[in-house]
Amino acid sequence: MNNYAIGVFDSGMGGLTTVKELNSILPNENIIYFGDTARIPYGSRSKETILKYAKQDINFLKSHKIKMIISACGTVSSTVLNNPIQNLDLGFIGVVIPACETACRVTKNKKIAVIGTSATIRSQSYVTTINSIDTSMEVLGVACPMFVHLVENGYIDRNNVVTKIIAEEYLEPIKKFGADTLILGCTHYPIIKDVIADIMGDGVTLISSGAEAGKYAKDYLIKNNLLTNRTSLGENEFYVSDSIQLFEENAKNFLGHEVKGKVFKGDVHHLK
Ligand code: DGL
Repeated sequence: MNNYAIGVFDSGMGGLTTVKELNSILPNENIIYFGDTARIPYGSRSKETILKYAKQDINFLKSHKIKMIISACGTVSSTVLNNPIQNLDLGFIGVVIPACETACRVTKNKKIAVIGTSATIRSQSYVTTINSIDTSMEVLGVACPMFVHLVENGYIDRNNVVTKIIAEEYLEPIKKFGADTLILGCTHYPIIKDVIADIMGDGVTLISSGAEAGKYAKDYLIKNNLLTNRTSLGENEFYVSDSIQLFEENAKNFLGHEVKGKVFKGDVHHLK
């Protein structure tokens, strides 16, 4: 048993898709979230910069009472897969492995597609992980760099013409490839999953990497005897590196409701 919080971070608000899942499946757990809203996007940056930012985010979370860390960012999770963070001394879960395991279980035709940021697709993290689970899987990765900007700017309605046109262009090769399973390898993408689902059609299962990471974290806590014994609802605490007001306005798109919990300014930029 451990009553410390679960630490979750992302480059911005995408990681709230993991928080939403955790609130639903582990309602008694406390959560401390860090969103690096001042430096988003990470997905168009170099490996060195992403690793530097990830270490700062992790060290920020480690300055709080936390029992594990979830990198609820596809970009960071992909980058640290090949460049693990040293001396972490805490349980660490990214979104790549949970999403890949689920995709391999779900697919029937063994054709899995992945969409993510440029850094995520360039890292080949999803391809490598899926093939390490099952070499007979065919995998296609497509970078969709504009999706994060559409989501962060509220272009999320199912009928938004701009979002639809961009999504159609990005998803065309995936339709041609014939995947029956599509991993939303960036934690921002579930916010436009209706647009994506309309284009892909009923025969394609969409997998939210952020939500899968939440489920994986639950298993991890159970296996390691780290669940809280709190019987009251857990509390959420949010830290952002940019405007608190902007975060509160947009976060409801990710959480499905107003932010429940306090939001603070968190400065990570001075950290190593
Ligand atoms: N949420 C981040 C991810 O899952 C995407 C945003 C970014 O580019 O920083 O990759």
